[in-house]
Formats: sequence, structure tokens, C-alpha cells
Amino acid sequence: MRVLVIGANGNTATRVVMQLLASDHDPVAMIRNPSHRTKFDQLGVATVLADLEYPIDHAVQGCDAIIFAAGSGGKTGPDKTILVDHIGAIRSMVAAKVNGVSRYIMLSSLNNDIHSQSRIAHYHRAKAHADNHLFETDLDYTIVCPGGLTDEPSTGRVAVSTDVQGKGSTSRENLAAALVACLDSDNTIRKSFSLLDGDTLLAEAIQAL
Ligand SMILES: NC(=O)c1ccc[n+]([C@@H]2O[C@H](COP(=O)([O-])OP(=O)(O)OC[C@H]3O[C@@H](n4cnc5c(N)ncnc54)[C@H](OP(=O)(O)O)[C@@H]3O)[C@@H](O)[C@H]2O)c1
Repeated sequence: MRVLVIGANGNTATRVVMQLLASDHDPVAMIRNPSHRTKFDQLGVATVLADLEYPIDHAVQGCDAIIFAAGSGGKTGPDKTILVDHIGAIRSMVAAKVNGVSRYIMLSSLNNDIHSQSRIAHYHRAKAHADNHLFETDLDYTIVCPGGLTDEPSTGRVAVSTDVQGKGSTSRENLAAALVACLDSDNTIRKSFSLLDGDTLLAEAIQAL
């Protein structure tokens, strides 16, 4: 599949691009800063310039699947969180629908809740609103909800659950592998699950969902 990776320059998404390169799939890196092009040129990965705060249809066209791994990050205020993680995410779902891209994989988060009172409630609320929108679409979605992200090496072993509230950490390597594995695991379609580092082989954990 030709897979649009939204937020491709990010810490997790770059790993997604690398893992797609090593798979049967064909990544297209969506970036918003032209200076990030060189990195992907060197990898032989196609890039498309687009910003989630503006129309992104040109980026989505011709793709078979989307992996959404963008986010405004912890350094911006709640205004950008809403613009990117909530409205920008919904924009990408609408673009997928309008342009006939049915497979959509969302990197979400543990503890999403539209009524969140957490320390980062604006973030947990934005992600919950985006996920709720996805539930209402007819896209072939999968929502992956990791815990706190780390840069630990891949263990290839995880714990998954359909309960997306909880505590724990997830390495970006394991997360990237799970996002890519979902593309080949139709049993994950229209499902939402938590992903933590754990003891079960990733492929087995995903197959069991
Ligand atoms: N950190 C955690 O512990 C944690 C836990 C659970 C879930 N998550 C989720 O995991 C996601 C990925 O985490 P990460 O650490 O890999 O993130 P990251 O390194 O901050 O990457 C986020 C990417 O999103 C891009 N982006 C931001 N605004 C954009 C816009 N308007 N249009 C297009 N792209 C935009 C950024 O582009 P630039 O490179 O141009 O800045 C960046 O490449 C987070 O966004 C969050 O939703 C994080």
C-alpha cells in the first residue's frame, strides 16, 4: 500500500517511515517544513508538503492508507493542540473520506477522555474528540493508544487491551512497529486498543485483538 505518514518528521513517525521502508508498503512522508525534505530524500522516500492547519487533500490523493502520527507537542499551548490534534486530525479524516482513502490508522493516547481532568486535559480532550469523530466515520480505522513514549530500543514485546485507560510506557520503536503491523492485520479494523511495552510478541498480540 502507498501509505501517507502524517507528521513524518516526528520521533515516532520517522520510525514508522523506516519500518514501512523495510516492509512491502510504500511510505509518503507528509512534512510541513521544506527543510525536512533532505532527510527523506536521503532515504529515497517521497515527500509531500502539507500542514494540518490547512487543506491537505493534495497529500492524501493517490494514497491507499494513512498513518496519523502528528501532534502539536507539549511545548505549544492548548490553542495549537486543538488546531492540530483535534481539528487537524478531523481534517485528515475528512480528506481521507473525500479522496477515497479507506484505511486510516490513528496514533492516539492512553487516557483520552472528552471530560479529562488530567494535568494535560486539553490534550486528552483533543485526542478523545478526534477519536470520537473517527468512530462515527465509515473509514477502516484502527486507533492505537500508547502510554508515555520512550526512546528505548525495540523489544518487539507488548501488552494490548481494549481498555484504553491506564498507566505505563511504550517505546516509540514498538509503537511504530504496531502502527505498521495494523496495515496487514484486518482484524484491527474498527478497533481501538492500548499498547504498552510488555511480554507478548507484537504479532501475536495484534492477531489476538
Ligand atoms: N509523548 C508522549 O509520551 C505521548 C504519549 C501518548 C501519545 N502520544 C502521541 O504520540 C504522538 C507522536 O509523538 P512523538 O513524540 O513522535 O511526536 P513529535 O516528535 O513531537 O512529532 C510530531 C510531529 O507532528 C508534526 N506536526 C505538528 N504540527 C503539525 C501540523 N500543523 N501539520 C503537520 N504536521 C505537524 C511535527 O512537525 P515538525 O517536525 O515540522 O515540527 C512533528 O514532526 C504525539 O503527537 C502524541 O499525540 C505521545
